[in-house]
Amino acid sequence: MITGAASGIGRALAQRLSRERMHLVLADVDRRPLRELASSLPGALAVPTDVSRMRDVEMLAAKAYARFGRVHLLCNNAGVAEYGAVWEVSLRRWQRVLGVNLWGTVHGCLAFVPRMIAQGGAAHVVNTASMAGLVTPPLAGAYSASKHAVVALSEALVQDLALRGARVGVSVLCPGWVATALASSAPGAADRMMRSLISRGLPPEAVADRTVRAVRAGEFYVLTHPEMAPAVRRRADEILAGRAPGMLRLPRSRAASR
Ligand SMILES: NC(=O)c1ccc[n+]([C@@H]2O[C@H](COP(=O)([O-])OP(=O)(O)OC[C@H]3O[C@@H](n4cnc5c(N)ncnc54)[C@H](O)[C@@H]3O)[C@@H](O)[C@H]2O)c1
Repeated sequence: MITGAASGIGRALAQRLSRERMHLVLADVDRRPLRELASSLPGALAVPTDVSRMRDVEMLAAKAYARFGRVHLLCNNAGVAEYGAVWEVSLRRWQRVLGVNLWGTVHGCLAFVPRMIAQGGAAHVVNTASMAGLVTPPLAGAYSASKHAVVALSEALVQDLALRGARVGVSVLCPGWVATALASSAPGAADRMMRSLISRGLPPEAVADRTVRAVRAGEFYVLTHPEMAPAVRRRADEILAGRAPGMLRLPRSRAASR
């Protein structure tokens, strides 16, 4: 089960998991590319879904279980970008980015996790957060808040499932720049530099490969850009020292600097 499957990382995951011979349920709000992708992958079921609406995600779960009876891998991946100073992003835009990135993930967990526990056997949830969920760049407060929340939700989820003895694993995917259409989902002026960093980021196929390896190995935090690790360490040091965050400039990814 993959949300945000019609483009970028979700699409690459769908193609990768199809090669693993998994049966796929693909969800996205963008119907045409979703249908085209599903028709190119044997046996894939496309379900147009707006993950920010609980009713849509509940319908999605009902359809997935009616068709396949079990879900072994849930990828809460749909997301949108947002750019701007905290006070300059309008209330509607705050609601949009939290609605898709955070509430979409919450809806996925509410609709699928109880069913995944009840079906018995091993299963796994992958939540797509971001490096912006581990560190906080300037001019991305709304996006970063949504992704920090996805990291926190995932950290709680893995512990809650362990407490209940459920055989459902969790990974939280925290990529740096990935070459996808994400920048075009930021309404208005997505920063030129952000667009350029994304367009020269890692290929989404590399992120899909890394994710599949992480699920197999049962890794929780899935980092794709090791060159950004010092920024995470610096944040932990700043928290413990009570210092305000120093201005963060995430390095260009290796792929980007080629
Ligand atoms: N590209 C990057 O640099 C990068 C970095 C870190 C994290 N991420 C995260 O990766 C995930 C995938 O993004 P991507 O980079 O592949 O971008 P993308 O724009 O190529 O793909 C995102 C997909 O999500 C879909 N979507 C948007 N709103 C939706 C909704 N309400 N319901 C259902 N589907 C919806 C879009 O239609 C699109 O197909 C997102 O959560 C994003 O925040 C991306």
